[in-house]
Amino acid sequence: MKVLVTGGAGYIGSHVVRHLGRAGHDIVVLDNLCSGHEWAVLCGNLVIGDLAAIKDLERLFHTYNFDAVIHCAAHSNSFESLKFPYEYYMNNTVYSLRLWELCKRFRVSFIVYSSSASVYGNPAISPIEETCFPSPMTPYGASKLMTERMLEDIFCNSDTHFAILRYFNVAGAEPQARIGECHDPETHLMPRILRSAMKRQPVYIYGTDYPTDDGTCVRDYIHVEDLATAHLASLDFLRTEKTSVTLNCGYGYGYSVRQIVAGVKYVTGIDFSVEEVGRRTGDAPELVASADRILSTLDWRPKHNDLYEIIRHAWEWEKRLETRRLSDL
Ligand code: UFG
Repeated sequence: MKVLVTGGAGYIGSHVVRHLGRAGHDIVVLDNLCSGHEWAVLCGNLVIGDLAAIKDLERLFHTYNFDAVIHCAAHSNSFESLKFPYEYYMNNTVYSLRLWELCKRFRVSFIVYSSSASVYGNPAISPIEETCFPSPMTPYGASKLMTERMLEDIFCNSDTHFAILRYFNVAGAEPQARIGECHDPETHLMPRILRSAMKRQPVYIYGTDYPTDDGTCVRDYIHVEDLATAHLASLDFLRTEKTSVTLNCGYGYGYSVRQIVAGVKYVTGIDFSVEEVGRRTGDAPELVASADRILSTLDWRPKHNDLYEIIRHAWEWEKRLETRRLSDL
């Protein structure tokens, strides 16, 4: 298939691209490199460009006549979105609407959309099923939910089929450690703890008074490799079933911040100090997916759903990244 991957130079997109390449798809990556990296694109044709440049985007659709669009490009930091709501709605919602319009005009057959568990907000029930009423707590979550809704409204009763993938907490890296998570600044828990381990600096735990077993937030961590293969399985599903679907992408069980800290200490064999500070605005106490629907819908089974393996792959990647940083100095 001819596949456009927006945001394909980013953390998740680059893993999706590598798996698409291995499966023999013809890939075009569109990325403005605002948080992605040229080195992360291991297959396909990288076009450096922005979803905001509508004429360029139109030309791209004209040139390639895509069968499928996987839309990963987004601003994706919930906390940051509270400070910059305008930028989040513009980038994640307005530009996505333009992309949907092009998909319609150019009769793209399949769309896979990167949504997020943040659309649920702070649900009372855990694990969270896809039928749970969404109630986002941040502009980021709202921007993703609006884009889901536009996708549904525009393509219901059409020949275009779509999969909305609601990512839970993505972690880990390619087992060969050629690609992995690389944000600046890094806000995600696992890479932050790994960096603390590497530099023997303290880790900060944001909030220890949540209504969870140990008082810290619980998340469902999914290995980025499993998430990537879920995209390919979604494309297969859309092609064979000719229907649309919304799926949680998580394993169905969670770990607290304290458990992740302990896991990193165990895997790295490094001790570091931990400081308990106040809550971070916008954090839900617990976000754990119900994985029933993804498991019963897709021909997909997780292969890396072991916390220590996730941490080990992320650790190998962090060490590689640090070597690269030092050699760039
Ligand atoms: N945390 C700390 N210390 C840190 C960093 C994070 O205690 O240094 C805590 C956070 O407060 C939170 C948990 O670790 O309780 C996880 O935080 P992350 O920033 O790693 O991830 P989030 O759960 O905030 O968000 C991520 C993605 C979102 C997505 C969400 C879905 O960034 O895009 O997972 O669950 F919506």
